[in-house]
Amino acid sequence: MVERTLTVRVARIRRETPEILSFELAHPWGRELPGFEAGAHIDVKMPGGFARQYSLARAPGVGGACDRYLIGVKREGASRGGSASMHERVREGDLLPISAPRNTFPVQAGGRRHLLLAGGIGMTPLLAMAQHLARQGADFELCVFARSREHLAFAEALTAPELAPHVRLHLDDGAEKIDLKALLREHAGGTHLYVCGPAGFMNAVRKAAAHWPDDAVHAEYFASPNDSSVPAGKAFSLRLTQRGFSVPVAADQTAVDALHDFGIDIPVSCEQGLCGTCVVPAEGESAEHRDFCLTGAERQHKVALCCSRAREQELVIHL
Ligand code: FES
Repeated sequence: MVERTLTVRVARIRRETPEILSFELAHPWGRELPGFEAGAHIDVKMPGGFARQYSLARAPGVGGACDRYLIGVKREGASRGGSASMHERVREGDLLPISAPRNTFPVQAGGRRHLLLAGGIGMTPLLAMAQHLARQGADFELCVFARSREHLAFAEALTAPELAPHVRLHLDDGAEKIDLKALLREHAGGTHLYVCGPAGFMNAVRKAAAHWPDDAVHAEYFASPNDSSVPAGKAFSLRLTQRGFSVPVAADQTAVDALHDFGIDIPVSCEQGLCGTCVVPAEGESAEHRDFCLTGAERQHKVALCCSRAREQELVIHL
């Protein structure tokens, strides 16, 4: 589902690598687009009825202002249709429905230093974050991992004068290498780590940073690391504190589906715990959190209803 839809015009399509196209999206009548913060993503509805989330790869201007959104779309070998549709059926001048930007991967404002690790197409949110940090004069480093120079997307942005001094490259086929273990061996207080990339890359980074404090590590997944749809569990009761009643959730049902049966619609998008669309306020301790988008601190008072379940018999949400 694409919520709060707006329509944009595909202003420019550019080939970044053999597998990645970038799309610049503009307001159809040249107006400004809704503002956002670096790290945000949008849902894009594309020909064929597919809807996918894409991170915004260029930081907005002052105050979040923006006249074009930039996204990168990698054509997946095992595409379920979304990336193939963007690559084959979308052309410059086409109109596409999109959602307003949402941010579940923000820059940590109080951080003393920021380490951004990007694998392949995972560079998109981190590129916007790096541009934002550069404008702030922040202490940061953007480490980009790619197979080769040919597979390096947004190369022009990486060599821009404000970013270039902060960028380190790791090319699988080249002399430029980054030793992940050495990079993450020490955690200096106040340093935040941000990671986005394919599952293998994410796992390698999380393993190398396993000793970092939970709240210093921020990950944006674009596919469920479980490689499956959201697993079911046992039946439980969903207590809605503001409405003052409970809803039964069957073992093979999600909380979102159970609420829908009671006439309460929770907006969803990825339905895999990735995007944060279905997050609601909750007694976090009553939840068995199965999402990949909330931080440890957020899980104390929020829950993603598309995937999470009750820790015991009851999940308490503040709706
Ligand atoms: S719908 Fe994406 S996290 Fe629940």
